[in-house]
Amino acid sequence: MIPRPALLRDLSASYVLNAGVTVSGDLVDAVRPALARLDPLPGDSGGIDVRRDPELGEEAYRLTVGSRGVEIVAGGRAGAFYAAQSLHQLLPAASYRFTGGGSWPVPGVRIEDEPRFAWRGLHLDVARHFFPKREILRLIDLMAVHKLNRLHLHLVDDQGWRVESRAYPRLHEVASHRPRTATNHHREPDTYDDVPHGGYYTLDDLAEIAAYARSRCVVIVPEIDVPGHASAILAAYPEFGATGERHDVLDRWGISPAILSPLPPTVEFLVTIFDELLGALGETPYAHIGGDEVVLDHWAASPEIGAYRESLGLASVNELQAWFLRRLADALAERGARAVVWDEAFVSGGLRQDTIVMPWRGMNVGRRAAAAGHDVVATPVYPLYLDYAEASSPDEPMAIGDAITLADVAAFAPVPAEWSEQERAHVLGVQAQLWTERVPDARTVDYRLWPRACAVAEVAWSGGVADGFDGRLAEHLGRLDALGVEYRPLDGPHPWQRRRPHRPSAVRITEVMSRIDALTHDAESTRPSI
Ligand code: ACM
Repeated sequence: MIPRPALLRDLSASYVLNAGVTVSGDLVDAVRPALARLDPLPGDSGGIDVRRDPELGEEAYRLTVGSRGVEIVAGGRAGAFYAAQSLHQLLPAASYRFTGGGSWPVPGVRIEDEPRFAWRGLHLDVARHFFPKREILRLIDLMAVHKLNRLHLHLVDDQGWRVESRAYPRLHEVASHRPRTATNHHREPDTYDDVPHGGYYTLDDLAEIAAYARSRCVVIVPEIDVPGHASAILAAYPEFGATGERHDVLDRWGISPAILSPLPPTVEFLVTIFDELLGALGETPYAHIGGDEVVLDHWAASPEIGAYRESLGLASVNELQAWFLRRLADALAERGARAVVWDEAFVSGGLRQDTIVMPWRGMNVGRRAAAAGHDVVATPVYPLYLDYAEASSPDEPMAIGDAITLADVAAFAPVPAEWSEQERAHVLGVQAQLWTERVPDARTVDYRLWPRACAVAEVAWSGGVADGFDGRLAEHLGRLDALGVEYRPLDGPHPWQRRRPHRPSAVRITEVMSRIDALTHDAESTRPSI
């Protein structure tokens, strides 16, 4: 099974689960989405019994398969849902197909399980390339199979804005598409396709995605990345920018100097956008406000922004950025959501104490955030940026660089041994990132995520991959096959997944890491030049 349960004991008895098996107990509704492919029926005789035990944590469960049926005892809805996912993994891989009417032998087992980390996340950049709603729903189903429970959607970047706004409709009308897209490798001269690219989720789509996710114990974490990464917003509403100039939705990659203004009208605009987003998503405990890779030059050059900064008694544009992000986090707190930021925002200082920090530039800066009392979700480039190639091979599809292997991900320790107990207590969990500059379609999303995200899931659930991971993964790939996942085979890409033409990768992960290390030791630095 992946992730491996905390405790699993074989029992001598076994059971046969037939389509139409009855499910009874007070948590029936929680397990139904997990067992949909098995066609369970509500009923009160034998089959699967699912009961709540208030002594267990919300995500904890016990699962017993004996000769008379399946007994699940769970702390809450999530525990019952994960018990059902574990039960499904005990069946043959073919049970993941929509064949219907199956009759599946289940080995007798006793499982006692609960996750090590509360935050078990995947991030998907839907701004650089848009992935339609059906792909998001499918990804939520795949996350649920792996007991992953946070889907962080990066909804805006220089290259596109991806949500309907009824208050500011030019965002989805103008900022959601670009006429062409860069196709060159990192550090090569720019080349472009001539293909328009775009798309956005309506607020009704987002409400549907959030409801679908909730019933599968996944929380959607929306990100509006500000004040940098702003070209698309400023293509639609240049008046909210630092210079007032209109920008184009970017058609190439890299860090842009486009930046929002910190003045009150821009803050009001963003609060309105968050009101629309949070309204559509429903109970949303977190909202990500970005804060990464901000080029503050336009703030420093603007007399109006300089005068505003002085009126606030702030000494530097870095302090002004901290103040701006703090105002957004305060507005989110009033609406019941905790702010999440990338680590540069922590380095700039002035965060609310309840703001969650994502240390993408490495766990050193994550440790500093934890020592300062912030909750932290481990998101370091190495080894959790799954836009890096899986191997240093010219056969791999074009990636930002190479290589972050499955073994690299599997070896990740989210709470390093040398951290103090207090620092370790602030690690909420683990999240893998999929940036999509070089992920043009859903087939490539499958290739990049799987099976590396299987290792992420086990690290997040168990605190590290458990014994026998390779053998369990080999079996698990049969489930992914049945689910129709176009994962990367362990020995390299299929012929149709290979890169053409062959080109050596431009960037090595070791080179990126040494540059990021240098930058994160410099508190003033906010701009790694990768
Ligand atoms: C990031 O990779 N800029 C968070």
